[in-house]
Amino acid sequence: MKNLVVLTGAGISAESGIKTFREMGGLWEEYDVMEVASPHAWENNQELVMRFYNERRKKLLEASPNEGHIGLVELEKYFNVHIVTQNVDDLHERAGSKNILHLHGELKKSRSTIDPNLIYEISGWELKTGDKCEKGSQLRPHIVWFGEAVPAIAEAADICEKADIFVVVGTSLNVYPAAGLIDYAPNGIPVFLIDPNDVGTKNTEITFIKEKAGTGVQKLIGFLKEKSGSND
Ligand code: APR
Repeated sequence: MKNLVVLTGAGISAESGIKTFREMGGLWEEYDVMEVASPHAWENNQELVMRFYNERRKKLLEASPNEGHIGLVELEKYFNVHIVTQNVDDLHERAGSKNILHLHGELKKSRSTIDPNLIYEISGWELKTGDKCEKGSQLRPHIVWFGEAVPAIAEAADICEKADIFVVVGTSLNVYPAAGLIDYAPNGIPVFLIDPNDVGTKNTEITFIKEKAGTGVQKLIGFLKEKSGSND
């Protein structure tokens, strides 16, 4: 089976009721990113950072995967699908996708502040001051903040280099190094971009499916099936 690599961003979860970041009404209009999602913020106002992620976790627990996430699972019938996501939600997992790499961490997990290898599931929505790892240090959200390294980027680049088909869904491609992953796709392979809005990219070979994720992924499936001559 061919390798189909999908880079997803906040837009794929928009139809599940999760806010994106940079659109009108997006999270970064409501909050100053450096005050809630940076090491400086954690040093400065731990309570605010904790509250910001607790609220988002609460919303995530009420959300369900949408047609976009579910369509990507359907593609596993025809392709070896690898999802590389910038999202910290678990909607790809809950939809049933098998191979998921989280670039920016996971909202439902916490991590030790003295040993980054100690990672825990958060039960329920709340992480609190005083919640500690087994070595006795405060737990923080398991999120890659602005100004921090992206530990999964090398593995993501390896996955992208092996793509036979590359798909981008619901990301403004503003945040690096994630946005640069598209450049690891081998030259000449089909590249699709699903987004209801224009997205700036240097790649001129892209097939742009100007749709929301739900309908866009269905169109992609139709297009790929047609090309492969499949009748299912
Ligand atoms: N379906 C598909 N795409 C959509 C939909 C939808 N229903 N609604 C909006 N979009 C698109 C927007 O047009 C935009 O291009 O999703 C994109 C969202 O872009 P951003 O808000 O910038 O989100 P993302 O690219 O995932 O952000 C990257 O920035 O702050 C961070 O760490 C955070 O992982 C995040 C990173």
